[in-house]
Amino acid sequence: MIIAIDGPAASGKGTLAKRLANHFGFHCLDTGLLYRAVARDVARNGFRLEDAWAAVAAARNLDPRELEDADLRGNAAGDAASIVARIPEVRAALLAYQRNFARRPPGAVLDGRDIATVVCPDANVKIFVTASPEVRASRRFAEFEARGSAVAYETVLEDILARDARDSGRASAPMMLAEDAELLDTSNLSIEAAFDAAVGLIKRKISH
Ligand code: CDP
Repeated sequence: MIIAIDGPAASGKGTLAKRLANHFGFHCLDTGLLYRAVARDVARNGFRLEDAWAAVAAARNLDPRELEDADLRGNAAGDAASIVARIPEVRAALLAYQRNFARRPPGAVLDGRDIATVVCPDANVKIFVTASPEVRASRRFAEFEARGSAVAYETVLEDILARDARDSGRASAPMMLAEDAELLDTSNLSIEAAFDAAVGLIKRKISH
């Protein structure tokens, strides 16, 4: 059983994926962390993020056990990830790990940008989680404040818009709504309400 959750930055897909995995007793993979870790390793090895050769090498040598780093959750890491994520060979190098993870019994929830379209086109359930850019920026802003990092709301909103453009506009596996995905707009939904709506979608889908 595979549940694919895609959506833009700060749409709530990560929180939703974790709660769904908990609820159903499934494994959970935040695929954004893989791209964030690749960008971290490129910088750690002393290369520029735009250096495709260094990014591909980092992706091929990525140790998935090294994803727990707190720095990977920051704003800068997300931006850096979206730069290396444009490189097709980086995406290709991360594909086998994601697909193997998806097959772990009894089931897996993966969240990202291209899960329903590229990584697991045969997923049993596909959900595209979204929310208005302003709502997403407010959520991210609140997360940063809670962690004590001082970033202005306007900066967070600008970053979100820039990342949306980069993720939707790239040639390789752009972020998009899969034909057979269910759209879940969380602009006016609490975490609890979004979770309930997703469980409802999943139950309807698997009872067919
Ligand atoms: O949590 P947030 O949505 O801000 O970011 P993330 O899911 O950790 O993703 C960070 C960046 O990695 C995205 O902006 C994408 O450029 C890239 N990414 C991707 O290309 N494909 C995925 N399956 C997941 C992330």
